[in-house]
Amino acid sequence: MHILAIESSADETSVAVVENGTRVLCNTIASSQDAFTKAGGMIPEEAARRQVECILPVLHQAMQESKCTKDDIDAIAVTRGPGLLGSVLVGTVTARALATLWKKPLVGVHHTLGHMSSTWLELPPDDAPQFPILTLSVSGGHSDLWLRTSHLKGRLLGSTRDDAAGEAFDKGASLLGLPYPGGPAIARMADEGNPAAFAFPLPLKKENTLDFSFSGLKTALRYTIRDAGPTPSIADLAASFQEGICVHLADRVTSAVRQHPNIRELHIVGGVSANKRLRAMLTGLNLGITVRWPVSLRSCTDNAAMIAAAAYFIVQENGDAAYASFETMASLPLTEAISKES
Ligand code: KG4
Ligand code: ZN
Repeated sequence: MHILAIESSADETSVAVVENGTRVLCNTIASSQDAFTKAGGMIPEEAARRQVECILPVLHQAMQESKCTKDDIDAIAVTRGPGLLGSVLVGTVTARALATLWKKPLVGVHHTLGHMSSTWLELPPDDAPQFPILTLSVSGGHSDLWLRTSHLKGRLLGSTRDDAAGEAFDKGASLLGLPYPGGPAIARMADEGNPAAFAFPLPLKKENTLDFSFSGLKTALRYTIRDAGPTPSIADLAASFQEGICVHLADRVTSAVRQHPNIRELHIVGGVSANKRLRAMLTGLNLGITVRWPVSLRSCTDNAAMIAAAAYFIVQENGDAAYASFETMASLPLTEAISKES
């Protein structure tokens, strides 16, 4: 089954064609992030305007790269939310028009379910992930720990109480005078620094919870910069701050695996899964389970291939109900897409 997907929830415009939820025929992405480097963050109206400019050229390029014609496409998929409303609407309006024009069924996909499907992309058929899977979903908008027994069945074990992990990287970068997006900027700087140079507190240390909290780390960074003297090493600060975030994430993952010994795999998804230190730390935990992150770096941050993969799994599990009509939503809980086992 070939699914053409569109993802436009924030400042990336992407169109992909994916076969059977894994084989990527194309995953074309136009990013308008450069436009926001100076502003230090996304400007919603500007992001939506860029989506309008990019969507048709990206669609044309994707069709060329995939070497597909409309006859090769079995269904259209699109991110229906959550995201910046103006940006998401550009994708859903385009997808609806395309589905009508080409007479194809349309699947509306939750953005985070897309991230959670990104670990299936480009896997060989004999290496399919095995449920139950613990998914650490860490991006600019959310930080969640999900335990799933299938793509669409599972429960939320923990969630951030304040900032998302990616947001912590972005805000930390801004405090350090580094550009947006902060995650890659901090990671690059951290390569040159000493992660033990400054100590950061372990958040929610005394609480018996699988929740996250990043605002304390951000405040600690502010005070550390203030007290570090007139010419602090930005590399040491970046490395130590990154270490603080990763240690917190690793601590929660360890507790979750201890509490749920039936877990067979750990998946790390979302923009922050691109972080090399996080990958090394989670692999180094030696939890005795398979640890995966998206095969390609471009599948970590927002992209349409993950939306196509998610749509394929929705069709597999829900049959024709996958093509139900949907609304475009700026905020949308993931419990709309993943339900508890009855
Ligand atoms: O998944 P994503 O592209 O968009 C959302 O759904 O939010 O994630 C973007 C987030 C940003 O906060 C960015 O700073 C972070 O992912 N990020 C990283 C890295 N690359 C992107 N954080 C840490 N290390 C990275 N290498
Ligand atoms: Zn995302």
